[in-house]
Amino acid sequence: MGSKADLIVGLQWGDEGKGKIVDHMAQSYDYVCRFAGGHNAGHTIVIDGRKYALHLIPSGVLNLKAKNIVGNGVVLSPKDFIKEMMQFDDLEGRLFLSDKAHVLLPYHAHIDQAREQMKGDKAIGTTGKGIGPAYGDKVARHGHRLGEILDPEKLTEKIVEYFALNKPLFNAMGVAAPEKEVLLAEIQSYKEVLGKYITDTTQMMWHILDEGKTILLEGAQGTMLDIDHGTYPYVTSSSTVSAGACIGLGINPKDIGKVTGIAKAYCTRVGNGPFPSEDKGQEGDLLRKNGHEFGTTTGRPRRCGWFDAVAMRHAVRINGVDQVALMKLDVLDGLKEVKVCVAYEVDGKEIHYVPYDLEDVKPLYRSFPGWEKTEGIRVFDDLPDTAKSYIEALEEMIGTEVGIISTSPEREDTIIR
Ligand code: IMP
Repeated sequence: MGSKADLIVGLQWGDEGKGKIVDHMAQSYDYVCRFAGGHNAGHTIVIDGRKYALHLIPSGVLNLKAKNIVGNGVVLSPKDFIKEMMQFDDLEGRLFLSDKAHVLLPYHAHIDQAREQMKGDKAIGTTGKGIGPAYGDKVARHGHRLGEILDPEKLTEKIVEYFALNKPLFNAMGVAAPEKEVLLAEIQSYKEVLGKYITDTTQMMWHILDEGKTILLEGAQGTMLDIDHGTYPYVTSSSTVSAGACIGLGINPKDIGKVTGIAKAYCTRVGNGPFPSEDKGQEGDLLRKNGHEFGTTTGRPRRCGWFDAVAMRHAVRINGVDQVALMKLDVLDGLKEVKVCVAYEVDGKEIHYVPYDLEDVKPLYRSFPGWEKTEGIRVFDDLPDTAKSYIEALEEMIGTEVGIISTSPEREDTIIR
């Protein structure tokens, strides 16, 4: 009997706390797979006092019984990936990289940073890692697939030729062409380390599904950063939603099992772009302080605000969410009043969906009484009544159940309903 792959996706603007849930779930799956994004994502895990920073390697790496697949939908920087691998012993037999994933090279990061600088106050606020330019090359059909690093001479020739053809453009951006010999040596070193992990992961996915293995698909970033369904152009360059898992791993919609959507009990966003429920006042500052809302990958302070039920309904529908994991409830502890954005106002009209442009929408709030303390609570019934009412009201508003509630960063401080 075949199996279905369970899926975890972010429902907001990333940083929802997927790491805690994925790490927890990765303990009980045979395979953990990444399908989109690159090393712009990131979370830190502490095990037995040792800290691990994961950006692209799936979280199953910390479960010695699990195998890890990096799918074709990912953009992979060999240099950064190798650095990440150094945290672990030999991963042969536990790590598989799609030969169709796209290669992100240092010049992609230079282009990303140059473009952001040229945009001035219209900058997206990217992580500067080269994600957009690498996906751009893929879609423009002059990208390079990971399988190509197995022939370093040929790949070097192609990159040198590409730079020669686009010289005026790169000159204008101040991006230098890589030196041929240096580039060749670099790609040869990538082949040496990564070569043995590169394989046809699409065939592998079909095979493990047919064999009935348990499979967890680990999303990166969040729905509102999706290239099609997010707040374009202030988005990342990949399909972060459920459907992206099919594209990014070569499986079909019928292969997907349970979808768990991760959301914080409030909202954050890093980088620029619309954020209707942002609180630029003292309460936003308090959420940032109490929630330690600073980026894992870039260290940037995150913009903070209230739970946005309109954007959440949009995310629940797009992703086909079966249950929501509500993270960081304890960050709201001690607030007198907790607000939820329940509708938007556009040109004096109240709307209940995410419009084409979120730039000028005004949030309409409903207010809930706060509570003293939820931190560390592990049983739903032990929560203060006001916190229970808050969660039940959210369920009503977003039309799906909150099956998991997190009340501290600790793995055990989790309510499973
Ligand atoms: P890029 O993915 O580096 O191109 O950045 C595009 C936008 O996505 C920026 O607003 C980034 O801050 C945001 N972004 C990318 N990765 C993450 C993430 O892992 N968490 C939160 N925001 C992210």
